[in-house]
Amino acid sequence: MARIILVTSFKGGVGKSTVSANLAAKLARAGKKVLLCDLDFDLGTLDLITGSEDRMLFDICDAAFGRRELDDCAVTFPSIPGLYLLGAPFRCDDEIVPEDFAERIRSLCGGFDFVILDTPGADSVTLAVARSCADEAVVVATHNPASVRGAEKTAQMLRDKGIGCRLLINCFDARSVSEDKRTGMLSMIDATKTPLLGVIPYDRALMFAQEKGVLAEGDAFISSKAFENTAQRLIAGRSGGRQVPILSGVRGVRRKKVLTK
Ligand SMILES: Nc1ncnc2c1ncn2[C@@H]1O[C@H](COP(=O)(O)OP(=O)(O)OP(=O)(O)O)[C@@H](O)[C@H]1O
Ligand SMILES: [Mg+2]
Repeated sequence: MARIILVTSFKGGVGKSTVSANLAAKLARAGKKVLLCDLDFDLGTLDLITGSEDRMLFDICDAAFGRRELDDCAVTFPSIPGLYLLGAPFRCDDEIVPEDFAERIRSLCGGFDFVILDTPGADSVTLAVARSCADEAVVVATHNPASVRGAEKTAQMLRDKGIGCRLLINCFDARSVSEDKRTGMLSMIDATKTPLLGVIPYDRALMFAQEKGVLAEGDAFISSKAFENTAQRLIAGRSGGRQVPILSGVRGVRRKKVLTK
């Protein structure tokens, strides 16, 4: 049975798509079979982020409504075996009914270990779809106050729907906690009342590489090891299994500052 994981936040631009793509890639690198789904039908970007826009001939709706086989629709990555992408339609002419579409997505998940659902920032029909079929959620937040509030509200909404969630702090920069008085890690956990899944540092190299469709892989990216750690923690699950320290191997993050409230 695939674990279906919703990646979300009410706040736009916090890195949901970046996190979805890179986490999916690290899960695949860890030997898992992963289906990455773009449920942002207004402005899907996973094909751009993964550098596969020229190879995406069909989209998630073609697969879900049975117009094409999954194999025709899912983009594969020769350099990352195990990773499959179902992109968002450029224009969606299908009527999307949340419960029905969620069931259609579930029917595509057979044989996968993980299904990662990237969602839009605002509440939308596709977020309702994702909520209907997700087993668990990752709430993404950066450490600016508006984003923390967004994460707090998102986590509350998910809990109300009975979906367990964990917090992923993205674009973390320990210096700005003391210099710009950005919210520290402990306060974010406190405010969102959500257990921490991982911390991804602010990675300038990733921001530029992403514009060229390159994922965070290798030593050139300080976020690469952090995504890897986060994928391992996701694999380990909520309890038991192999627990990976949150910041181990993440260059540029000093423990003392990170813990600044
Ligand atoms: N860890 C990071 N370090 C540096 N830049 C990052 C990081 N994560 C994301 N970004 C950058 O932040 C911007 C927004 O990222 P992304 O598109 O993934 O956000 P989003 O939450 O999916 O946005 P939207 O709400 O529009 O869907 C991009 O330019 C991306 O390169
Ligand atoms: Mg996005």
